[in-house]
Amino acid sequence: MKTGEKGEYVEVDEREKQPNSEQKKWEAEQLQSALFKFGSRDVKPDEYDLLLEDEIEFVQVLRMDGSKDIDRKPEVTESEKKKMNIEETKKSLPVYPFRDDLIAAIREHQVLIIEGETGSGKTTQIPQYLYEAGFTKDGKKIGCTQPRRVAAMSVSARVAEEMGVKLGNEVGYSIRFEDCTSERTVLKYMTDGTLHREFLSEPDLGSYSVMIIDEAHERTLHTDILFGLVKDIARFRSDLKLLISSATLDAEKFSEFFDDAPIFRIPGRRYPVDIYYTKAPEADYIDACVVSILQIHATQPLGDILVFLTGQEEIETCHEILQDRVKRLGSKLRELIILPIYANLPSDMQAKIFDPTPPNARKVVLATNIAETSLTIDNIIYVIDPGFAKQNNFNSRTGMETLMVVPISKASANQRAGRAGRVAPGKCFRLYTAWAYKHELEDNTVPEIQRINLGNAVLMLKALGINDLLHFDFLDPPPHETLVLALEQLYALGALNHHGELTKMGRRMAEFPVDPMMAKMLLASEKYKCSEEIVTIAAMLSVNSAVFYRPKDKIIHADTARKNFNHIHGDHLSLLQVYNQWCESDYSTQWCYENFIQYRSMKRARDVREQLVNLMQRVEIDMVSGVTESINIRKAVTAGYFYHIAKLSKGGNYKTVKHNQTVMIHPNSALFEELPRWVLYHELVFTTREFMRQVIEIESKWLLEVAPHYYKPKELEDSTNKKMPKTVGRAGPSDAH
Ligand code: CDP
Ligand code: MG
Repeated sequence: MKTGEKGEYVEVDEREKQPNSEQKKWEAEQLQSALFKFGSRDVKPDEYDLLLEDEIEFVQVLRMDGSKDIDRKPEVTESEKKKMNIEETKKSLPVYPFRDDLIAAIREHQVLIIEGETGSGKTTQIPQYLYEAGFTKDGKKIGCTQPRRVAAMSVSARVAEEMGVKLGNEVGYSIRFEDCTSERTVLKYMTDGTLHREFLSEPDLGSYSVMIIDEAHERTLHTDILFGLVKDIARFRSDLKLLISSATLDAEKFSEFFDDAPIFRIPGRRYPVDIYYTKAPEADYIDACVVSILQIHATQPLGDILVFLTGQEEIETCHEILQDRVKRLGSKLRELIILPIYANLPSDMQAKIFDPTPPNARKVVLATNIAETSLTIDNIIYVIDPGFAKQNNFNSRTGMETLMVVPISKASANQRAGRAGRVAPGKCFRLYTAWAYKHELEDNTVPEIQRINLGNAVLMLKALGINDLLHFDFLDPPPHETLVLALEQLYALGALNHHGELTKMGRRMAEFPVDPMMAKMLLASEKYKCSEEIVTIAAMLSVNSAVFYRPKDKIIHADTARKNFNHIHGDHLSLLQVYNQWCESDYSTQWCYENFIQYRSMKRARDVREQLVNLMQRVEIDMVSGVTESINIRKAVTAGYFYHIAKLSKGGNYKTVKHNQTVMIHPNSALFEELPRWVLYHELVFTTREFMRQVIEIESKWLLEVAPHYYKPKELEDSTNKKMPKTVGRAGPSDAH
């Protein structure tokens, strides 16, 4: 199979274009010979690199051993499983034999650490055991936190099904901007962030009899803070049971933190996994993924494939390329069912990854990190791991937060590989070299609390009345300077006074489940009389990356459609126009289709908007609109995001005002060709360079108006706000002007 030119981006309508006939022939030949050589029989590892000579060359370096205590009894195969009813499936999970011991241990101890291999049934089964054992009899609930939204939704759906109830009744979930629970709910799955917020209204978690902090090993910021909060509560609520559940080896550390709480180990069942590395580094890992998937599909025995990518865009790209290749190969291959899974995917599509694979077909799941430990997809035999993940990183020296793709840790790589050995011996293909694994990957992922902006967390803790943050009981304390910076930022936003106490503004800000800058923007809309518009902008920003639809085969049309929404003052206003026009179309699907807008994202924006409007009412801000000029809107945005300001410098680059970092306007921005002197950005993303995404033009004097304690007039000199004359040497479309 030919991999295609590296780094080549096809801008024409690929589906209308016939594949190059030479390439087609070559691909068919390669495939034929591969099939001829190996047919569908199992390939022994040592034969493997022979087979792959013409393709990506992998070398097998080690075999990750299965568990010693593996249950070698006849395996439950996928087809047998299909015949099993729910009861039998539940009994087949590794946690099942320990049900009674586990319940006994929970009765005996207030805090219990539970450790067990991913997929052993911790998340779906333990809450049910507790329910059956009567832990909800006194009218109290069992709570279970998940670091990821998708997991909370999908796991609760599964549990509702197992219990034969409607989701939202006895079993429900609650995530940011979406509450699917009712009076009847006794098993409540929620994101860790949601529980964090619940402390505000119920500081003793009085309505819960058991709280499970699940996927503790993920060490998200919220989970880390929850550790401190629940530990504190457990001291005065002796009736509350606390379970900390983790997939990996951190159990000892958790136990120590929770005053030597006992550890309950669920013996794992893991089959050996052969690990393959590429012989040479791969320049384009999406392409390498596609090639590897086809290699596996053409040469390896049936069994599903799990591919780890970093985000929605990458998954969509990979999906399209793969689909296209498969189509061209036609009936030479068995059926390959391609299924994506990422946070923004609508839940009905998410559920598809759990559908059993039809006989004689193969499923390939293109997933984000979510499939690393939070979700277990049965029947995965092959894992493809490019070795990257998207990570939020905060530089406490510059105060800048950037979303970037970074290499994963060895611990993550091994978790990923382990996903291949759950139902049978598996294979993991790492798209990097053995050398890179050994020398370039860190041992463990740094916990979020030590690498992201703490503004949000600090505001929440302050709102809970926890003032002395330096002495908060952290499992791993955040760096001192990050804490200080968060305090400074909240002070500049007006959320804290100079004693570090929460102000009235801060209290109102804490009502919103959004980061402090966005909360401030929402509140500032009161002063600038544009709450309707700002609420829409906030809702759209929260789904922004998924608003515009850009199918590979219609890129030109899609980009033209997108440009029609461009607002001269920038992207926030473009998003506002999209939303308003959609409202005018009476929330039409057809309108979305015609304008290359993702209907589902719009629907979500509408839901988020509704929630925000409710919260605005709670803080007593009237919904008003009517500004015809965009100045007020932009001022309100600036009142929240005055940290994110950059000024035009040489060569079409920008420099951030406070830290003089070089950044650029993202090519998708309405202002990409405009180059205003002063801009405000919503976020920074690092791809090939540091890009500002979602940008508006501002006037520097507004900064003195909205953040007088943060900006000095001197920093904002040269604020004529005239556009700079076009500079020489900047490549790109702007030169055409
Ligand atoms: O939490 P842990 O990793 O220990 O396991 P789990 O998430 O409770 O998964 C137990 C079983 O439930 C696995 O076989 C999953 O495939 C299955 N499951 C499912 O079928 N559908 C879901 N939405 C979630 C889990
Ligand atoms: Mg789990």
